Amino acid sequence: MHQSPASRLSANRSRLGHKVRYALRHPGRVLPYLRRAGRDSWLRLRHRGNHVAYYRAVMASDTARSPEAAVGGGPSRDRWLAIGQMQYDYLVGHGLTPQDRMLEIGCGNLRAGWRFIQYLEAGHYYGIDISPDILIEAKKTLVGYGLQDRLPYLTPVEDLKLDFLPDAWFTVVHAHSVFSHSPVEVIDECLAHVGRVLAPGGFFDFTFDRTEGAEHQVLGEDFYYRTETLIRLAAKHGLVARFMDDWERLPHGQSKLRVTHPVPDRSPGPAVEAEMPTVEQ
Ligand SMILES: C[S@@+](CC[C@H](N)C(=O)[O-])C[C@H]1O[C@@H](n2cnc3c(N)ncnc32)[C@H](O)[C@@H]1O
Repeated sequence: MHQSPASRLSANRSRLGHKVRYALRHPGRVLPYLRRAGRDSWLRLRHRGNHVAYYRAVMASDTARSPEAAVGGGPSRDRWLAIGQMQYDYLVGHGLTPQDRMLEIGCGNLRAGWRFIQYLEAGHYYGIDISPDILIEAKKTLVGYGLQDRLPYLTPVEDLKLDFLPDAWFTVVHAHSVFSHSPVEVIDECLAHVGRVLAPGGFFDFTFDRTEGAEHQVLGEDFYYRTETLIRLAAKHGLVARFMDDWERLPHGQSKLRVTHPVPDRSPGPAVEAEMPTVEQ
């Protein structure tokens, strides 16, 4: 039995009632969920109060099992390819050109990244991730597709301050299925700093797990936000966020926001007239 889009958007997955109903609908998923919950509790305890360290440990454990599954969508190679293609097609459909300079936040094992690397001019792709394990897999993807001469940058990070990157450099910043795994402090940190590295006229697209009910999280791994929370957060850092309606038509459970610098108001204000020199009669 599938959930309707409306019930998906209002469900609170952290509630016991939701978990019981879900377990009754999907009895085969109960044992894997309990295993995951046990592992996550242990990792949370080990990395208490440090979400990035905790999530890095989750990624290390998931990547050791299956790099495809570690970036979401299950272990299927076809699904891995399809989700990468979806991201790529969407950006190219929105005007990505080979001359763009792209930063991918949470690039994983280059599910979409290898397509961007192939398409962009050499040296125009910069991927960052908190997980060294998944970046090692990213290198394998790069080698597998023979993309060495595209000279992408792949860099592990501790945080999203982006302090090692130049001002106003990236015309496109992309984060797919990263904020769906991020507490609000991480998103806030990213939005506080992304404006500095974003070129004038550039944009930052990110997906998130959307709820229209109460914001909640599950196992410290999956976070559900209301759209207006994230739009407000962007505004707090002087950025404008727009909901991308056309992404909703795609077969993907998350929603997408596009963040830009505000467009400067070019209308002549009264101050201009006031500064006009007065002509002596
Ligand atoms: C679900 S995977 C998606 C990977 C890739 N974007 C894709 O679509 O295949 C999320 C990735 O984001 C990374 N990640 C999570 N939190 C991050 C953070 N705060 N900064 C950078 N990367 C992060 C994870 O290590 C993981 O590789």
